[in-house]
Amino acid sequence: MKAVVIRTFGSPDGLEVVDVPVPDPAPGQVRIATEAIGVGGVDAVIRRGTLAAHGFRAGHLLGSEVAGRVTAVGEGVDAAWTGRRVWAFTGLSGGYAEQAVAGVEDVLPLPAGLSCADAVTLGASGVVAHFALDRARFAPGETVLVRGAAGSIGLTTVQLAAGGGAGAVVVTTASAERGARLRELGATHVLDRSGAGGSDAPHGFDVVVDVVAGPGLPYFIDRLNANGRYVAVGVVGGQPPADFGGRLVDAFRRSLSFATFSSDTVPGPARQAVRSAQFADAARGALRTVVHEILPLSRAALAHHAMDAGTVFGRVVLTP
Ligand SMILES: NC(=O)c1ccc[n+]([C@@H]2O[C@H](COP(=O)([O-])OP(=O)(O)OC[C@H]3O[C@@H](n4cnc5c(N)ncnc54)[C@H](OP(=O)(O)O)[C@@H]3O)[C@@H](O)[C@H]2O)c1
Repeated sequence: MKAVVIRTFGSPDGLEVVDVPVPDPAPGQVRIATEAIGVGGVDAVIRRGTLAAHGFRAGHLLGSEVAGRVTAVGEGVDAAWTGRRVWAFTGLSGGYAEQAVAGVEDVLPLPAGLSCADAVTLGASGVVAHFALDRARFAPGETVLVRGAAGSIGLTTVQLAAGGGAGAVVVTTASAERGARLRELGATHVLDRSGAGGSDAPHGFDVVVDVVAGPGLPYFIDRLNANGRYVAVGVVGGQPPADFGGRLVDAFRRSLSFATFSSDTVPGPARQAVRSAQFADAARGALRTVVHEILPLSRAALAHHAMDAGTVFGRVVLTP
């Protein structure tokens, strides 16, 4: 089967289409003939080498979420899964392929009315958005900033915050055109990436959900209101300055909180319950997914060039 691996870290041109054996599902796993493969910000972060410390090696088969039909089950898995349309999390590898394997606990049947492309746009990111707001103890009436709102995590966070009764939903994004699209999803104020603009935007935030991190992170910590909660969920802008924690300690009389959040730390059944509800919401149009573009698997490098150029709004989806 065809798959896409990282031959060299850095440029998207280091991605290579290769022939590899079709994987056999191990005990507890299913195999899926992929119909849609999500190109997540995490894939770009791994490919750039930002997560080198986590042990990714040349030859790494990228991709963490797919949707398609189950073609085989491993030992101990109910054969009734075979033939079902499903979404699946494959871990931090294995998704950019014609066939992928996943533990059955990370597989969810798709409701009628939800396309495979929509499923891989919402499946992993929606859960991050939900639990990031939960971790931030977001309450109705509060002012929320979503930093890096134009990606899949941010787009869902904006919708959940708006739907949850936020007093204001402020976003950072790179262009006015994106800002207009974010307003359609529930944003009330639009800032540029640096946090400038939006003359009528509130200066302080009760909750910040940050997909970006990078050098700008301390500035946004400074914009927390007293008792504000900052939840960092991504590093698409790179690592923050090593000493950013000093800002929090210096401001201790304002009782600020900073947390990181990874959905890896949420028990599987809780993740699946939220995902299942979000899939149902998306199928009936109550939660919107944004598929930026659908490209063939063999054009994965093009998808990554678009990610690096900052031209992706929502998620690029690959099809084998
Ligand atoms: N916490 C978890 O459980 C979890 C799970 C999966 C993934 N992740 C992490 O989440 C991130 C990916 O999320 P995603 O797919 O939603 O993001 P994404 O689509 O890659 O990026 C989100 C937005 O951030 C903005 N952005 C990109 N580079 C930037 C920069 N250098 N400075 C400022 N803004 C920038 C872009 O919007 P504009 O151009 O409009 O500014 C982009 O649309 C990765 O870091 C991944 O590791 C976390």
